[in-house]
Amino acid sequence: MPGDHSASTAGHEGGWQESKDGGGCPQARLPRHVAVIMDGNGRWASRRGLPRVEGHRQGVEAVRRCVRAAAEAGIGYLTLYAFSAENWRRPSTEVSVLMSLLKRYVRSDLEKLHEAGIRIRIIGDRDGLSADILGLLQECETRTRDNNGMTLVVAFNYGGRQEIARAARRLAERVAAGTLEPGAIDEACFAAALDTAGMPDPDLVIRTSGEQRVSNFLPWQSAYAEYVFLPDLWPDFNEAVLARALAEYARRERRFGGLGSGVPEGSSVVDTPRYREAGG
Ligand code: FPP
Repeated sequence: MPGDHSASTAGHEGGWQESKDGGGCPQARLPRHVAVIMDGNGRWASRRGLPRVEGHRQGVEAVRRCVRAAAEAGIGYLTLYAFSAENWRRPSTEVSVLMSLLKRYVRSDLEKLHEAGIRIRIIGDRDGLSADILGLLQECETRTRDNNGMTLVVAFNYGGRQEIARAARRLAERVAAGTLEPGAIDEACFAAALDTAGMPDPDLVIRTSGEQRVSNFLPWQSAYAEYVFLPDLWPDFNEAVLARALAEYARRERRFGGLGSGVPEGSSVVDTPRYREAGG
């Protein structure tokens, strides 16, 4: 039905899950899927008179704290924006540091993540990645594919517009091959052609460092996400910072274009300015 997003966005209706110590009160509501733009590594380093690279190194420690804290909190999906399709514009020395940090992280942490029951998925464009990076990314997915703990989604060489264009191309190819009717392309069909196929949409998108931009991160999937912008720089991220973001999320009322829980079902109340003044 028009306006029904449930088909393409499995996370909407199932977006809430009770925390382990929840007790069912609204404040204990947890996002099922948290996505994070890890920003501020460079500033963290320059404020200390250190090279930017040191900020990225400390950023990996923050990744470890974030993964642990999210899994302990009972988050189902955690997506981390590790390297954007636009990050290639950085100086080649910084790009190679980021690549080697990722490689080192996978080599040192993959077994621990696997033992913790974490399932890893990679999103982003794999074309043009070096063979060693590609191999490691594939190894992460294969090694952990049968796990049923938190899903850790690593967005690597990821750009949302590029992902949407790739999905459109895949569908166009199926139409050209005669295996897909153009009329069958709806939100659910399109979502299934994205890198995130089968995952719930993010309920909460966190960006650290005080910047308030989306930066080409999950634009399709975050159509109804709640955004929380934190002043903390990424290398300072820890369990307490995550708890602050989750508390802010729990205070939000999500309406998905409807009227929300404040309006009785079947009510004739419409979205008039007076209704909005009254807090609707
Ligand atoms: C943004 O900080 C951060 C990045 C572009 C890279 C994020 C990467 C990591 C945290 C390490 C590798 C990731 C994994 C999953 C092991 P910035 O450099 O843009 O900071 P600035 O805005 O202060 O310059």
